[in-house]
Amino acid sequence: MAREVMVLENVVKIYRAGEIVTRALQGVSLKIYEGDFVSIMGPSGSGKTTLLNMMGLLDRPTSGRILIDGIDATRLRDKDIAKIRNLKIGFVFQLFNLINRLTVLENIEMPLIPRGIPKPKRVEMAREALIKSAGDPSWLPKKPLQLSGGQQQRVAIARAIVGNPKMILADEPTGNLDRASARIVVKTFLDLNKLGTTIVLVSHDPEVANCTQKIYMIRDGMIIGVREPDKSKCILNILQ
Ligand SMILES: Nc1ncnc2c1ncn2[C@@H]1O[C@H](COP(=O)(O)OP(=O)(O)OP(=O)(O)O)[C@@H](O)[C@H]1O
Ligand SMILES: [Mg+2]
Repeated sequence: MAREVMVLENVVKIYRAGEIVTRALQGVSLKIYEGDFVSIMGPSGSGKTTLLNMMGLLDRPTSGRILIDGIDATRLRDKDIAKIRNLKIGFVFQLFNLINRLTVLENIEMPLIPRGIPKPKRVEMAREALIKSAGDPSWLPKKPLQLSGGQQQRVAIARAIVGNPKMILADEPTGNLDRASARIVVKTFLDLNKLGTTIVLVSHDPEVANCTQKIYMIRDGMIIGVREPDKSKCILNILQ
């Protein structure tokens, strides 16, 4: 029986901006098991990014609990949350969140610095991660803004995978990529998953979601169903 690595119990997230109240998550409960590769699909504004932010401990829920390896993260101090996040979770943001004044190399190697890995090793790991993310090592000395959106996305994926996190949370990782690059990224995720990495990804693209083991459907901040993927419609199984 696989271990529960993340459990969400009735997670509610309400955003308040002045008079405007948005119930972005209205009681989401779900369990992620070690070695899972699941996807989340739903219309724009349905709460996918909010859900991923909760799972990645980037923001606290309004109510409900989030257990990571059995520990209730909602009760931890920010400092301890940051430590768990750095060690266990690789995050691909929908808007990349690269630091524009740093080079591509400095962006990718960032998660390795708190671990005390020496520079030459970091460079080697960053280069490898970028290649696995369908990127090109010639980008390493550049600044993110010198790259296209799709190229920046590949850098963001490299940063998420470079530290070999136990869990990867990826928000639309193939959203800006051409089909060939999307295939490389999906293949990389599948390979990492085969080696034991747990992956949760948000995707609008059925050809990506169909490569995962389970598809959660979200609408209006609620999980409304779980679908089995149609593997014949996975991007890696479609001739193009
Ligand atoms: N920081 C915030 N402050 C206020 N409202 C927010 C905030 N972030 C998200 N929302 C609102 O919460 C709801 C869910 O947003 P979310 O970004 O999770 O949707 P999504 O499913 O990721 O959409 P998309 O597919 O467009 O990325 C939306 O109504 C959005 O406007
Ligand atoms: Mg989103």
